[in-house]
Amino acid sequence: MRHLIDFGDMTRQEWDELYKQCSEIIDHPADFVDACHGKVSCNLFYEPSTRTNFSFQTAMLRLGGSVFGFADPNSSSIAKGESMKDTIKMVSSYADVIVMRTPWEGSAKAASLYSNVPVINAGDGKHMHPTQTMADLTTITRLRGSVDGISIGLCGDLKNGRTVHSLIKALAKFENVKFYLISPRELAIPEYVRSFMKEHNMWNVEVTGLETVIPQLDVLYMTRVQRERFVDPLEYERNKGIYILNRQKLERGKKDLLVMHPLPRVDEINIDVDDDPRAVYFDQARYGMFARMALLMNLANQPRLPQEAVEIGTKPVCHNPNCITQTEHYLPALVKKTGGVDCCAFCDAAL
Ligand code: CP
Repeated sequence: MRHLIDFGDMTRQEWDELYKQCSEIIDHPADFVDACHGKVSCNLFYEPSTRTNFSFQTAMLRLGGSVFGFADPNSSSIAKGESMKDTIKMVSSYADVIVMRTPWEGSAKAASLYSNVPVINAGDGKHMHPTQTMADLTTITRLRGSVDGISIGLCGDLKNGRTVHSLIKALAKFENVKFYLISPRELAIPEYVRSFMKEHNMWNVEVTGLETVIPQLDVLYMTRVQRERFVDPLEYERNKGIYILNRQKLERGKKDLLVMHPLPRVDEINIDVDDDPRAVYFDQARYGMFARMALLMNLANQPRLPQEAVEIGTKPVCHNPNCITQTEHYLPALVKKTGGVDCCAFCDAAL
């Protein structure tokens, strides 16, 4: 693995090895205080973040490395019109690894074309969030012993929630996982995720009611309705507050159910759930830091590679208005096949 753009970049064996390292860090943190000594991470956060940015920062600091970057692109020369390509070429000459979050789908993939150090996708629009998935898989494995064979309910904004898309892709690498996709019809999983599940024969049912499926679940993964992703404010108003998990509803769940949430939450989990031993979302955020430590140890210590020439594009071929190719027109027109359909290689949208 050179970059982490999508969980699909990682084989099951690579994940198992990374998880093993992550477990060793959790159990013996003192053994890793110099694992990234002298290494520097650049955190480019074009979008707000609490967990991902701070956990990547603390992960690098706990490994003996250093961190620089921004939490607001307007504090950099991006505000003067500098392109993403030039920004990445610059920071990759200063850093050993780049951690990047943006509101545009496909941006981490785009950055990886121009970087001679590894790029980690810390969330690209409503597309993917693979290091959140690492936090999720670590939580399930540590607390249940295994991810294979679980029944998982993914609840909320499955259309715009990048953590859900990433987690579904990752769970394709595990055996006998059953998915209950719980959302209003307007916020159902996007077509490319549905095609992916079909292509990989992943057992799933799409439902609108939460309470009826709770008793069948081993993991309930709640998500926020992502206000910042809605083009139509009325659509947000129709769907906000649609699922609220409270202690009374949780009574229907199994005794060893894991209630997870990538956070931040708004109102979808009532605070009366927080003290239930099945509520593990704060542990999940802490496991995320350890998983990111394991990832940084692997990627920040890789050799710097010479940059290969990249074909210069002329205009976007992708129709997703939020795809990075819509604003950075020099990007090459990369196409890939998913389920026999031509898709944008940056954002996965069907062409
Ligand atoms: N889960 C997650 O990505 O949280 P932040 O947006 O706070 O980083």
